[in-house]
Amino acid sequence: MRRSDRTMRRPGDSWIPYYLPQTGREEVRQATESIRSGWLTTGPKVHRLEEGIRRLVGASHAIGVNSCTAALHLALAACGVGRGDEVITSPYTFAATGETILYQGARPVFADIVPETLNIDPEAIARAVTRRTRAIVPVHIAGLPCDMDPILSIARRHGLAVIEDAAHALGADLRGRPVGRLSNVTCFSFYATKNLTTGEGGMMTTGDGRLANRLRRLSLHGLSRDAWKRYTKGGSWKYDVVEMGYKYNMTDVAAGLGLAQLARFPIMQRRRGHLARRYGTMLRGCEAFDLPAESPGATHAWHLYVLRIRPGVLRIGRDELIDRLRARGIGTSVHFLPLHLHSFYRKKFGFRRGDFPHTERESGRALSLPLYPALRTRHQDRVIETLFDLARRYRR
Ligand SMILES: Cc1ncc(COP(=O)(O)O)c(C=O)c1O
Repeated sequence: MRRSDRTMRRPGDSWIPYYLPQTGREEVRQATESIRSGWLTTGPKVHRLEEGIRRLVGASHAIGVNSCTAALHLALAACGVGRGDEVITSPYTFAATGETILYQGARPVFADIVPETLNIDPEAIARAVTRRTRAIVPVHIAGLPCDMDPILSIARRHGLAVIEDAAHALGADLRGRPVGRLSNVTCFSFYATKNLTTGEGGMMTTGDGRLANRLRRLSLHGLSRDAWKRYTKGGSWKYDVVEMGYKYNMTDVAAGLGLAQLARFPIMQRRRGHLARRYGTMLRGCEAFDLPAESPGATHAWHLYVLRIRPGVLRIGRDELIDRLRARGIGTSVHFLPLHLHSFYRKKFGFRRGDFPHTERESGRALSLPLYPALRTRHQDRVIETLFDLARRYRR
């Protein structure tokens, strides 16, 4: 079997994949039902999923789209971010956070992270605000909510929009307030690896009714009515293009998967929390690693378990540790390589190593361990034992 094939294998005793979605009969039933019903694109299931997520996070409005990337783009557009504006965000993030700012002709301005949490530092945000700043996009890395109160107060002081990149953070909350109702717009991802998946998909939540209408319109060509209303019995074929929009709507087949996932979401989140606590309890005894931080008063969504190699303890670096784990049948990943150091950002903006030292240092020693509801306890035990063994073997 080739190497690339191994990553696709079911978890077994020889290969523990970095990630596996938990899908079952209900997902199959929901998707099949959509296909049989004739509503393949945006229809009743999208509306039900929107309602389910809206209730889950306690927001006034939820709008389904086909990715979190689409959600971020529309949120920036609807909040008035445009050419020449600056948007402050974290360099410790995925490509989507930066590129959606660029879609709008705006400039991503990075603010470094708090090393312990990997989340954007409110003090660095305050230092980055200029006359051109229009919005702040905090990213809740791994599912740990950012320190939102100071971020919201900076935004209020300067009249800025706050758009949360909550791709990792469905199920997280801050002192009892769920992520999804803290800022102007919150953007969730339902990508294959996320805590709730529709294969590809995303959702925006907001408390602002006018913004919600605009987001919905932008998600479907700027049309005055959506396809669901046009083709229902009581609907009308007439529509008007009110403004330039995009083709970002969610399909009913995807929403069917999402509804099945939503029903088991509390159980899946409990399992993630349990596995994360187990990693914490057992790896605490290994001096080679720093464990993920938690914040007082915050509920972590545990999308990722980001372990960090403690400097000066091992003879091998992060990349070699990943290779050794892979050789022992354990898949891991890295979240994230600093966005400003990718070749596109270096060329376009002249970023260099050293520009955001916390992000660079933490990223260089981080690796994400397998963490998903379908991970078996004995497989997690093997991950932990292997980490202890490698730490002993490669100790300085
Ligand atoms: C932090 C972050 N933001 C945005 C996205 C984009 O999500 P999607 O794949 O749903 O567009 C991801 C995806 O992994 C992500 O990790």
